[in-house]
Amino acid sequence: MAEGRKSLASDEPPAAEHAVVELQDVGVDLKAAREAPANRSSSSFMPKPKVPMHLAFNDVCCYVPAMFQIPGFVSTVKKVAEACASRVSGKREVAPERQILHSITGVVNPGEVVAIMGPSGSGKTTFVSLLAGRNHARHTGEILYNDQHKPTDKAFKRQLGYVSQEDVLFEGLTVFETLYYTAVLRLPRAMTDKDKRERVSIILEVLGIAHVKDSIVGGIRVGRRGISGGEKKRVAVGQELLYNPSVILLDEPTSGLDSTTALNLIHTLHTLAQVGNRTIVTTIHQPSSRIYQMLDKLLLMGQGHLLFYGDASAATDYFATIGYTMPYGMNPADYFLDVASGWSGEAKDCGKLVVRDPQLKVLLGALAANPHRRPGDDLGHTMKNPKESEEEKLQGASYVTQMYVICVRSMKDRRFERFSVDALGTVFFMAVLCGILWWQKGVGANLATVTGASDVAALLFFLISFLSFNLLFTSIFTFPNEKTMLLKEREAGVYPISAFFFGRTMADIPLDTLIPVTVTTIIYVMTGLKPTVEAFLLTMMVVLITCFTAGSLGLLIGAAFLNLKRAQSVATILMLTIMLTGGFFVRD
Ligand SMILES: Nc1ncnc2c1ncn2[C@@H]1O[C@H](COP(=O)(O)OP(=O)(O)O)[C@@H](O)[C@H]1O
Ligand SMILES: [Mg+2]
Repeated sequence: MAEGRKSLASDEPPAAEHAVVELQDVGVDLKAAREAPANRSSSSFMPKPKVPMHLAFNDVCCYVPAMFQIPGFVSTVKKVAEACASRVSGKREVAPERQILHSITGVVNPGEVVAIMGPSGSGKTTFVSLLAGRNHARHTGEILYNDQHKPTDKAFKRQLGYVSQEDVLFEGLTVFETLYYTAVLRLPRAMTDKDKRERVSIILEVLGIAHVKDSIVGGIRVGRRGISGGEKKRVAVGQELLYNPSVILLDEPTSGLDSTTALNLIHTLHTLAQVGNRTIVTTIHQPSSRIYQMLDKLLLMGQGHLLFYGDASAATDYFATIGYTMPYGMNPADYFLDVASGWSGEAKDCGKLVVRDPQLKVLLGALAANPHRRPGDDLGHTMKNPKESEEEKLQGASYVTQMYVICVRSMKDRRFERFSVDALGTVFFMAVLCGILWWQKGVGANLATVTGASDVAALLFFLISFLSFNLLFTSIFTFPNEKTMLLKEREAGVYPISAFFFGRTMADIPLDTLIPVTVTTIIYVMTGLKPTVEAFLLTMMVVLITCFTAGSLGLLIGAAFLNLKRAQSVATILMLTIMLTGGFFVRD
């Protein structure tokens, strides 16, 4: 155990073998793991998924609009006008489409890792996201898990692990917090908190990120450097492993990693597939030759066409039979990417890389004349498990827990921004400045004169507009910032949108109340406004109601535009309009 810990504590990525050791003991239940703490490292486990999944995709085609339409008023009017015109003329006009996937067919058995390779733009992301039910582009063909589940079924989608190309993580949370909150949200509510923490630590060790568990994820938004890119990727993979899915789909998990780390990750995926009988599909961009040797199944794509699907070791021979012989000593992965890009691999063709379509036609013709048969594809498969429907009923966290977790998580995520010296400093500096400028201007005697009274009116106006401006502009960021995370978790059906809304709003209430209360108190005392409890409470109430209204307005604008620049301009215009017509400047 000591040795295991030592290797984890070091900065190096863990040896691939480590993951094997961790996973060898699958099947040991949680209790046993806890009862033998001395042997934790070696008896750690990843429980086997309950139902092995057989994935079959048949004749999958995908289409996207051929022209990008800028969303907005003009294009909407144009669309409506076109629809009306086609209705009047009786002709249905079909918007031009571009086909980006062409009849992709194949099966993936449990325990297999399928690597999807292809040049960029060949449709890897589109295909994997279709398999995960995360792509809403028009598509035809059939994608079925165990002959019965479509990835778009809501209940089933929850069981599909999907790691997207971009890391969607909370930058202000630590690695442990990130995984722990996901565990609370996604693991069955019947599981105890201790077991969930246990599961998180197992995942941390399996993925070799236990040594950074207390570091923050970090990023541009929080303005701090945190864990490295490879570690982020592993955190993202960990989030999906937590709830132990039978199917894991990954989009370029190795991009941006050095080849050793990438190799480790692929190795871990292999172990997970073999030991846990999981079905794993991952896209890989430019694998090193060592990674290529480790792949067992390869799905090669070129411009949306399936060029090869079968044992990776058989690919070289197969392409040789159709006239694409790999030059000696080349990395097969590089060669296949060249072939898929439309380059025949001949040295004399080096300058012809741009000639894509004719080359692809030649290649597709050769493929059609001599198709590759993947052994095992025709095997019957009956993986149906009668208990499956019961498994599906396993529920995640209760509604209240969901709200609570979302609230705490977002408070923690934004601790660096909201409690930063500049954010709080600005507010209190302005409060003290106001106090000094209007020093004791609110005492009774002053109010008797017209100038004195207008001084106090100006002070109250400034107090309210400053605080509500401040709140409006902080709350604009609430939804746009968490949009990607919200979309990701909503796609996985982790919580209903209302839980997110209430949880997220609750997270802001303490600070949104505390700042106006403190600022008002400072200004109230320094300017010597009416010293009665009644007057003070009344002022406070007006300030708070105005602030909450401004905050809600900010949330609304942020949610409506989801684009920070536009939201900010709209908010400024709206606030200035309200200020102008509020009765202080324009009186009529
Ligand atoms: N929603 C979409 N709208 C328009 N074009 C799309 C859309 N999704 C994918 N594409 C196009 O489909 C092709 C394949 O994209 P993608 O699957 O992202 O490729 P890869 O992941 O292999 O790099 C690209 O040419 C891309 O421009
Ligand atoms: Mg991609």
